[in-house]
Amino acid sequence: MEYPVRRSDNTSWQQHIQDRETRAALKSQHPRILWFTGLSGAGKTTIASHVDMLLHVSGKHTFILDGDNLRHGLNQDLGFSVADRVENIRRTAHVAKLMSDAGLIVLVCLISPYRLDRRMARDLMEPGEFIEIFVDTPLDICAKRDPKGLYKKAYAGEISNFTGVGDTYEPPVSPELHLNTVGTTPIDLAEQIVAHLELT
Ligand code: ADX
Repeated sequence: MEYPVRRSDNTSWQQHIQDRETRAALKSQHPRILWFTGLSGAGKTTIASHVDMLLHVSGKHTFILDGDNLRHGLNQDLGFSVADRVENIRRTAHVAKLMSDAGLIVLVCLISPYRLDRRMARDLMEPGEFIEIFVDTPLDICAKRDPKGLYKKAYAGEISNFTGVGDTYEPPVSPELHLNTVGTTPIDLAEQIVAHLELT
């Protein structure tokens, strides 16, 4: 896929001796991206943290890329306009891809509200290496939980483009995993994800 932001002419791809396969083999694992998408407050980070812990204790090498955290550094120049979200997701997807080239299992937690951007991230990976996990928590429950007090602000008109309130969220059509979070626990959902990884 070509991006309108491509400005780096006169560069060529450099091949290194150690590649993705040798690095992954050293870690005895298949590099993958676990891509958690869902509304703010849906539980993406909480579930991903449990998955991370379960994988860690079984000797896997992992890393979590979390939207809120990335927005404190790499993506601190980006806000929540459509263009900024697209760029936020593009950068994060490429960092995740690089980390998977280092042999890691990467857990990405981003609202990533638009299908096209999630498709872009998927297309960076080989078939079977991108696992889209829809953390499906209804808007009214996210708004009731409101862990950061942001839904309150959004409904009061203080945040104009908050996802689910003033901005769209396009649910995945065929994610690898569709998690209904109501009536279950983050640890149960994390175990489901790990079971899925072991089967695939
Ligand atoms: S994304 O849409 O670009 O994928 P990202 O996952 O990085 O979003 O960041 C979402 C987090 O930013 C939310 O969990 C919330 O804490 C905060 N946030 C602040 N403003 C907004 C907004 N307008 N819409 C959604 N989340 C927001």
